[in-house]
Amino acid sequence: MNPLGFNIAPSLLSADFTNLAGALRQAEAAGARMVHVDVMDGHFVPNLTIGPPVIRALRRATRLVLDAHLMIEDPERTLGGYIEAGADMISVHVETTPHLHRTISRLREAGVRAGVALNPATPLSSLDEILPDLDFVLLMSVNPGFGGQRFIPGALSKISRLRRQIGEAGLPVEIEVDGGVCAENIAALGAAGVSIAVAGAAVFHSPDPIEAILSLHRALAGESGQNRAEV
Ligand code: DX5
Ligand code: ZN
Repeated sequence: MNPLGFNIAPSLLSADFTNLAGALRQAEAAGARMVHVDVMDGHFVPNLTIGPPVIRALRRATRLVLDAHLMIEDPERTLGGYIEAGADMISVHVETTPHLHRTISRLREAGVRAGVALNPATPLSSLDEILPDLDFVLLMSVNPGFGGQRFIPGALSKISRLRRQIGEAGLPVEIEVDGGVCAENIAALGAAGVSIAVAGAAVFHSPDPIEAILSLHRALAGESGQNRAEV
């Protein structure tokens, strides 16, 4: 189900917001270990989604790892709310804060897995001083704000370069990719060094989200998926 410890993180952004519990059940039924929760503030990105109250409700409804991706300006101001709501992993965008070290330290002290997210045009060099303090790096492979966008091809070499850098430094830092992940590119992403792949539209815009998660795992393992049921 999870070859090589790889995790597919279904993104609730593309789920039916009137039935998030149903989306959690689908992720669990497909053997997912985590779900990705996109927090948008209408400032850093031109879209507005959910905040701590909804994350708290998700926390009550599932034991899945909650991976909160904060696309918000000034994350220090409201970080405590996301920690208290029960997120297990939290990423903040490097573009949103001059106080990255303080933010990451706060997350780790709270026992939350700490990540930094980079927009497609943000260079890997912005991680130079913080990489050893991170649990994971989230590389955006679309411009953040919306689900269902097309994967930006340049993200693949960025993943490879980061994987090499992490390997050379001997760090236990995971790479998460977010945006445009689908059955056609997931094997290449795994080969480039990703261990967490977020998938929104590919899962929840499918008529059968459980089967969609399973077929992403098959595609990752290099199976063609030609025999899968088209429900
Ligand atoms: C976009 C979000 C993503 C989004 C990905 O800003 O960060 O997590 O849900 O959706 P897909 O997989 O549809 O590109
Ligand atoms: Zn996201």
